[in-house]
Amino acid sequence: MSSQIVDRFGRPHSYLRISLTDRCNLRCFYCMPEDGIQLMDKPSIMTLEEIISISSTFRKLGVDTIRLTGGEPLIRKNFDFLIRELAKLGVTLKITTNGILLDRYFDLFQEVGLKKINFSLDTLDKAKSIFITKRDYYERIMNNLKTGLEKGFEIKLNVVLIKDVNDHEINDFIELTKHQNLAIKFIEFMPFKGNKWDWSKGVSKDSILKNISDKFGKIEALKNPKHSTSVNYKVKGHAGSFGIVSTITEPFCSECNRIRLTADGKMKNCLFANSETDLLTPFRQGEELEPLILSSIQEKKYSRDGMDVKMDSEHYEKNRSMISIGG
Ligand code: GTP
Ligand code: 5AD
Ligand code: SF4
Repeated sequence: MSSQIVDRFGRPHSYLRISLTDRCNLRCFYCMPEDGIQLMDKPSIMTLEEIISISSTFRKLGVDTIRLTGGEPLIRKNFDFLIRELAKLGVTLKITTNGILLDRYFDLFQEVGLKKINFSLDTLDKAKSIFITKRDYYERIMNNLKTGLEKGFEIKLNVVLIKDVNDHEINDFIELTKHQNLAIKFIEFMPFKGNKWDWSKGVSKDSILKNISDKFGKIEALKNPKHSTSVNYKVKGHAGSFGIVSTITEPFCSECNRIRLTADGKMKNCLFANSETDLLTPFRQGEELEPLILSSIQEKKYSRDGMDVKMDSEHYEKNRSMISIGG
């Protein structure tokens, strides 16, 4: 079934990213503002039953893929119940997690057929991990990564590159792909409310590619899945691959198929959308959600909610912090 959620540019939206919570067991500085955020109170958050019911409405409209995000999705209470119910909708399930709690969930993921895990891991160095995340979970994270690979999950590592913080590790990540069928996704640093973004701290797609080819020589371009956020490559002879999410220097909005639902039930038609459509309040009042979803998608701008290459701070400071969008 093709999606009925089609915007003014003819883009069908079949991929829903649901943020399960705005809380996280880490404090990565590029995601969580230094002063923290005003956390959502419990009544304003979708219950698990509400998430399932709202997801089934999206399913009826043609959504075929759901990614669970956070904050950290695995800290949501009764996650087991939620994922078993979402699996019944017949969608492809994916998750983006920091990996700390993964060991508790591998069996469940196998049971429900969740194979794709995106693992946020910005450094392979313990001291740097503590510096970036402001917490000390390095061993647990690395153990869970190892176990996930041994169990045959399709793992991608999300690496947000920040100049002079972790950009010297690009080639250490590439080394990991030598013998392991692992995908590394390097991500250009993006601006959100309170994250002190400045592109001089970012690392561009071109410089990432140059860095890798200077060390490893020939890089092969891979065929990209249609709606991929990353442009994908492989170092010749390596078992694994790498990709680059170039939101800043080469936005990939023309094939955008994404819708976001925040933990407090607001639909965002773009990662950078300032306007949001409340689905939870009307849901609680017994209203039909389909017309609201379809009209929200009609409001979607072509790219980055209308921001040009300079990424206007007046605009992104009105967006949420990344921690409460979920990526
Ligand atoms: P895969 O399709 O498995 O590669 O995952 P994904 O890139 O869709 O999701 P993930 O949660 O791993 O996000 C990785 C990075 O891509 C994060 O920094 C996200 O913020 C960014 N990202 C995900 N979706 C979008 C999007 O629609 N637009 C933009 N600009 N960035 C996105
Ligand atoms: N820029 C780019 N990516 C970010 N993420 C969080 N904040 C940012 C940012 N400012 C990434 C996380 C996670 C994914 C969902 O989004 O590292 O892997
Ligand atoms: Fe889609 Fe907005 Fe991301 Fe562009 S920036 S790919 S329009 S969500």
